[in-house]
Amino acid sequence: MLDINNLSVSYKSQGNLVTALGPVSMKIAPGDIYAVIGPSGCGKSTLLNVLSGIIKDYQGEVKLNGEQLSPKKHNIGFIPQNFGLLPWKNVQKNCTLALKIKGKALDSSINERIDYIQNKLDIYSLRNRYPNELSGGQKQRVSIARAFIMNPDLLLMDEPFSALDALTREEAQELFIDIWNKYKTTTVFVTHSIEEAIYMGKRIVIMSHCPGTIVKTIDNPLFNTEHLRESEEYLKLSSQLRTIIKKGWKI
Ligand SMILES: Nc1ncnc2c1ncn2[C@@H]1O[C@H](COP(=O)(O)OP(=O)(O)O)[C@@H](O)[C@H]1O
Ligand SMILES: [Mg+2]
Repeated sequence: MLDINNLSVSYKSQGNLVTALGPVSMKIAPGDIYAVIGPSGCGKSTLLNVLSGIIKDYQGEVKLNGEQLSPKKHNIGFIPQNFGLLPWKNVQKNCTLALKIKGKALDSSINERIDYIQNKLDIYSLRNRYPNELSGGQKQRVSIARAFIMNPDLLLMDEPFSALDALTREEAQELFIDIWNKYKTTTVFVTHSIEEAIYMGKRIVIMSHCPGTIVKTIDNPLFNTEHLRESEEYLKLSSQLRTIIKKGWKI
């Protein structure tokens, strides 16, 4: 269980403290995917930076499985907006980097997991390539593979598909859900795309403009539905969300 209680973050700006996020509270059960949707600048990346341990100076409480969240104690996977691959390491080394940092030996069960995930994401044959020899979609798939290979307690994604063209994005979203269905990793991702939130979020959290607070949390009835993008329910839910978002974002 990820328990975020009255979290707020302020940044120093020209000598003043300016609140960028919060207060926000949410409880995320194991095996949930939360889609956090909010306007640009509302504090989405700030929220993920707290959860990933990059920001340590915050108010409120963040606990994972009853203990204060810490990247040292917990295994936290992070897929950043620009994929975060190290350009001087090949695909295989990028995929196993987190395991190496955590000092995990590549035993046969981990190797099996690596092979399975790389095959599933269709990057097995790219193992020896370097990031500059990959397309955007391929980099994205390596980044997803790396996150699942480390078997995280919590997976975070910051607008992970926004750099991809529309069709590559849809394919990447489908692959993500496919592999997520096998491992059911607790995930929080932020997005500004309603479509992405409906396609990938089991629950959808709508945030206000800056400093972001939660306007509404919705159980997504369409999560894990097949042929979603063509369905009438999908269009209906998008338009409902648009209405709530417009109110919250005061557009
Ligand atoms: N390091 C920083 N110093 C000062 N202000 C920041 C810093 N990072 C972000 N901000 C401000 O905090 C607010 C939230 O930023 P961010 O979390 O990046 O929003 P989002 O990801 O939703 O676009 C914005 O107003 C932004 O300008
Ligand atoms: Mg951001």
